[in-house]
Amino acid sequence: MLSIDLRDKVCLVTGGNRGIGLQIGRTLAQAGATVVLTARTTDGLNQIADAAQAVTAPGSITGLPCDVTDAASVKSLFQSLHQTYGRLDAMVANAGILQDALVGMATEEQISQTLAVNTAGVLRCCQYASRLMARHKSGSIVLMSSVVGRTGNAGQSVYAGSKAAVIGIGKSLAQELGPQGIRVNVIAPGLIDTDMTRNLPPDKRQAFLDHVALGRSGTTQEVANLAVFLVSDLAGYVTGQVIGVDGGK
Ligand SMILES: NC(=O)c1ccc[n+]([C@@H]2O[C@H](COP(=O)([O-])OP(=O)(O)OC[C@H]3O[C@@H](n4cnc5c(N)ncnc54)[C@H](OP(=O)(O)O)[C@@H]3O)[C@@H](O)[C@H]2O)c1
Repeated sequence: MLSIDLRDKVCLVTGGNRGIGLQIGRTLAQAGATVVLTARTTDGLNQIADAAQAVTAPGSITGLPCDVTDAASVKSLFQSLHQTYGRLDAMVANAGILQDALVGMATEEQISQTLAVNTAGVLRCCQYASRLMARHKSGSIVLMSSVVGRTGNAGQSVYAGSKAAVIGIGKSLAQELGPQGIRVNVIAPGLIDTDMTRNLPPDKRQAFLDHVALGRSGTTQEVANLAVFLVSDLAGYVTGQVIGVDGGK
């Protein structure tokens, strides 16, 4: 029987208090991993603490604060990881925001905030994660892009641009960090049911789904399944890939 065993792995997931990040954290812990989920608020840390209660040994979930737009906060997160575990085997850079706007209407704040979280935040976390992983000459970094980072979408130039950049980061880091035994892959989800997509107007939602081969939105578990595979040694020869979980968009 094929199973994924992550008992020896310390895994970090940013933006882990809800949505896709939380589901990835739960699934990693089910596979036995020692999981650190980050949140940027006390409420978020409480959400993680609730999820941690349901985890059975040998897996575990711990919450740590982090705002990926704040360099000092990211540094402090990785210092805590280093002090507590002395290693990092996997990082899923999942934290992200979505602010739709026609290009002529996008505000300075929307542009800078989206790039700060979705792009600069990812780069910052990759810097620290790669340093920790390089010490043991192994690791798996998973970056969360989006189908629109590959295809573009009218009204989403800011978000799609921030997510296309994530693909460039992932492909570059796969080449740069491969010699140190660190794999880097990118997940490009399609329409997944979370808070981020809950308020999508029904007509926009249907217009999007009309182009999805499977004709439905995806679940957080379906994204988590791929993330766990990419973290695991089963994906030991997989790096530099952009993999869609999009129902065939
Ligand atoms: N849902 C989809 O259809 C879809 C499709 C393609 C790609 N994605 C990507 O998948 C990832 C997760 O999306 P989701 O649907 O799970 O979204 P979500 O439910 O809105 O969750 C987003 C997570 O990111 C965190 N976050 C936001 N800004 C942050 C910051 N500055 N520092 C640290 N954490 C921050 C949020 O924390 P708070 O709770 O504090 O806000 C939350 O934990 C995102 O990168 C998103 O772009 C989602």
